[in-house]
Amino acid sequence: MWEDLKIVFNEDTQIFHLQNKNFSYIMGILENGHLGHFYLGNPIHGPLRQHMFRRDQNRALIPYLSEGSGKISLSIERQEFPSYGTTDFRDPAIDIQLSSGSRVIDFKYECHRIIEGKPKLGGLPSTWVSDLADGKTLEIDHYDRVACIRLTLTYTIFKDYPVIGRNAKVTNEGTQEVFIDRLMSMSIDLFDGDWQWLQLSGNWARERHVHITELRPGIQSIGSRCGASSAYENPFIILKRKHTTEAVGEALGISLVYSGNFLIQGEVNADNQTRIVGGIHPEGFRWKLKEHESFQAPEALIAYSNKGMGELSRVYHNLFRKNLIQKRWQDSPRPIVLNSWEAVYFDFDEEVILELAQSAKSLGIEVFILDDGWFGKRNNDKAGLGDWHVNREKLPNGIKGIAKKIEDMGLKFGLWIEPEMINKKSDLFNRHPEWLIGDPLRNQSHSRNQYVLDFSRREVVDGIYNQLIQILDHASVSFIKWDMNRNITEAFSRNLQADRQGEIFHRYILGVYDLYERLTSRYPHILFESCASGGGRVDPGLLYYAPQFWTSDNTDAVERIKIQYGTSMVYPLSSIGTHVSDIPNHQMLRNTTLKMRGDVAYFGTFGYELDVRKLSEIEREHVKKQISSSKKYRSLIQQGDFRRLISPFEGTGNEIAWMVTSTDKKQAIVGWYQILAKPNEGLFRLRLEGLHREKLYTVTGMDYPVSGSVLMNFGLLLFPSFNGSDLKNPITGDYQSRIWFIEELEE
Ligand code: DGJ
Repeated sequence: MWEDLKIVFNEDTQIFHLQNKNFSYIMGILENGHLGHFYLGNPIHGPLRQHMFRRDQNRALIPYLSEGSGKISLSIERQEFPSYGTTDFRDPAIDIQLSSGSRVIDFKYECHRIIEGKPKLGGLPSTWVSDLADGKTLEIDHYDRVACIRLTLTYTIFKDYPVIGRNAKVTNEGTQEVFIDRLMSMSIDLFDGDWQWLQLSGNWARERHVHITELRPGIQSIGSRCGASSAYENPFIILKRKHTTEAVGEALGISLVYSGNFLIQGEVNADNQTRIVGGIHPEGFRWKLKEHESFQAPEALIAYSNKGMGELSRVYHNLFRKNLIQKRWQDSPRPIVLNSWEAVYFDFDEEVILELAQSAKSLGIEVFILDDGWFGKRNNDKAGLGDWHVNREKLPNGIKGIAKKIEDMGLKFGLWIEPEMINKKSDLFNRHPEWLIGDPLRNQSHSRNQYVLDFSRREVVDGIYNQLIQILDHASVSFIKWDMNRNITEAFSRNLQADRQGEIFHRYILGVYDLYERLTSRYPHILFESCASGGGRVDPGLLYYAPQFWTSDNTDAVERIKIQYGTSMVYPLSSIGTHVSDIPNHQMLRNTTLKMRGDVAYFGTFGYELDVRKLSEIEREHVKKQISSSKKYRSLIQQGDFRRLISPFEGTGNEIAWMVTSTDKKQAIVGWYQILAKPNEGLFRLRLEGLHREKLYTVTGMDYPVSGSVLMNFGLLLFPSFNGSDLKNPITGDYQSRIWFIEELEE
């Protein structure tokens, strides 16, 4: 009989089997004490033997661990957490310099524990289970007897997902200090190298575009060394088979619950095995570990699907929604916001803000967010960061006063902060010039005229925290947008000793997590939105504290389709911040239809970012309808199962489609987009997914019922072009979109 969830260790075979209904993860202790990786994928049952998964191989010109037998060479063995220096020449998961200067380490299995549930990771965000029955955890201790170092590998299997949550911890049990130069969160040696590698890459204003390449012999990697998970690469990859699509085939995901410098690397060796390692980027990282000290690596989430990339994404969406985001935000529909940034930028006073809020209220908006410019001498982006006290010239009644007035209108009030940053033109800089990251003897580069506070120092985090609570304790604030608008250069902490400077990036992120932890626990009612010039720090680490992020500063509907599509590869729609903005768009200077801007923004948290006072009467009516549609469908969109139907990254990219179905398949909402108009083409059909084949549905615009099997096998029909005679065709002109709502007919 299939058990829902189990971790079994077989003493005779020395095999660990972590298993749920949909997934098996199998490892074994090799004869020499190393931990071998055997299998990951569809559930396996029946008796297991090491011989089924690996063989002793006596091969020429390979280094073997001991003479004579020719049995184990780590250069060809598939392992769980390899080190460099014995017989394996590939990039390792761990690299430690001992006090002797030696880097040879050799971890052997010592003992293991099987724990109900999932323990917390100290000081780091991680997935969690609220019910002990929803997860089981295996901790395996390894020991290097010469160095007296303990390596603890932790594996959690969740009841409901084909996912393993992994992390690694190193403890120095010797009497000499050592230096950790690399401690990845996970490593896995896959049987073959016949995979394609999907990554989400981009830049400011075009974050998380989908890129797919073939794996090839040698190394390929993505990573970040700028102090944040970054807009350039996201800490996530998919390995997929060549023929894997959205709906069929094998796919394997690696996601890091981390917001700082990271590396995810694939290495295909001469035996066509693939080693994937993921964790803190080793470049620039060096952690001094004194006796009795431990170092904890962040969590990595390995997910598997044999039903395509769409299913893999839904696994991550559900895991993040139900086991990462804090419980109180899990099922709460995201409020519809008006953000002041693109409406007025720095140019506002209380009167302007109240006018905007009044107008927002009359449209049906729920939260007004006061963006940058409300504090210190912040009238442009050259001054003020670090001074978290209100600018009374703009807001004479303070944050408390404006928040109250806005709440009295029936709106909630939200506030923008950028706590990690400082301008040199600020009171804080005058008081604490030494709080900046950077070597005082060298130039400190600026970015947007700002500098980074040294959050690796407790007193700096305390200083910012104490300023913020002065505001938040007294004003009624329901929403915080936490921005971060530059990366770290000249990384140097004036507080760390020379041999600890390699710790600055990680300590910085720990400081960020610490401030998030303190603020979210002091103000559990505040909904946090993370932001980093848009999507420059979008990762599961921050999702743990802030259940949604500002996806990109690029609010152009055409660009947003690509950004939201790529982001959805791993992040749920309930986390993807989406706003309708003005035209010409402020980033692209493009004019798209109000309909298309709304139809794209529905598939996220939804809101507006424009001067609503300037809308024409016709636009106001349109916006009111959009807001009431969003209210009607947001639970479906944010809690349902997302399916990507047509990709902007394949083919011409001119037509794109996606849909969300409710988990019971009774409702669905479909979005279809066409970027440029096409002359005189034939009919277009859009095949749907995820419905009940045999049930009948009502579909927007159709006055007859349609079965799920018709919608999925034949599809919806469209006339997507101007054909010379039908001047009333609703889909003519550039930037078109359609939304269909589909609902099961009661029998
Ligand atoms: C960058 C953010 O992404 C914008 O939305 C806005 O908050 C500005 N910073 C404010 O400076």
